[in-house]
Amino acid sequence: MSANTIKSLNISDIALNIEDKGNGEFPIVFIHGFPFNNTTWEPQFNSLNNEYRVIAPDLRGYGKSTRGTEIISISLFADDLIDMLDSLGIKKAIFCGLSMGGYISLNIFKRYPDRCKALILSDTQCLADSQSTKENRYKTMLQIASEGLEKFAESFVNNVFAAQTIISNPSLVNKIKSLILSTSPQTITETLEALATREDTCGILNKINIPTLILCGTEDKITPTHLSEFMHANIKNSTLKIIEHAGHLTNLENENQFNKYIKEFIKNKINHE
Ligand code: MLT
Repeated sequence: MSANTIKSLNISDIALNIEDKGNGEFPIVFIHGFPFNNTTWEPQFNSLNNEYRVIAPDLRGYGKSTRGTEIISISLFADDLIDMLDSLGIKKAIFCGLSMGGYISLNIFKRYPDRCKALILSDTQCLADSQSTKENRYKTMLQIASEGLEKFAESFVNNVFAAQTIISNPSLVNKIKSLILSTSPQTITETLEALATREDTCGILNKINIPTLILCGTEDKITPTHLSEFMHANIKNSTLKIIEHAGHLTNLENENQFNKYIKEFIKNKINHE
């Protein structure tokens, strides 16, 4: 991403780092997953900024955004993004969230529906954590506290990619691993707790009355395709596209298909409403 698009916004108790480029009435806000930062949206940013205004924040504690003092939660991340829109003078946006970014997008729709023009929900789900997922998160928090991030990063990258990506794109795998290792262990641990305690948003699916695109990688092991099919069945008039040759990080593992589906969605479902 080019340097001249970077802005730092003073909102709430943090400095929020964002990339903001292009023009358009309804910006696309790209919300990264856990535990990444806005650089993971580079292929979308570069492909879409000529036609649309694209905004990619670093969530608090990630990338170049500061952590602040409030307790991290999915609702707090959502509030930060609404403060970001207010600070930029934007009434409504298209929220495109991957995984945890999707949890945040659904939280935004639940609490601030009039700020949403459309939703793009990628490799995500509306369910809260099961008891066993919660227990695993708490075990991981203890492991990070005693051993640091190395083992966590190693097992994360082994789970997050399609088998084919690990063989064909080792530089992407290494990039994601280094990105995890460069993140504050405290932010990662606090976000694991935020994920474990987040609320179910399945009850709002039938209230979603705006254009919604659901994307999921064929080999996503973290949020498998049946979770996307469930959201598609419950969100009226939503569009579901399954992305080939991709695991959980569809926007990076198959950027061409991901970008194509977003462009088609915006052209067909938003401009011509
Ligand atoms: C993510 O990619 O944001 C996380 O894997 C989400 C999760 O662990 O539930």
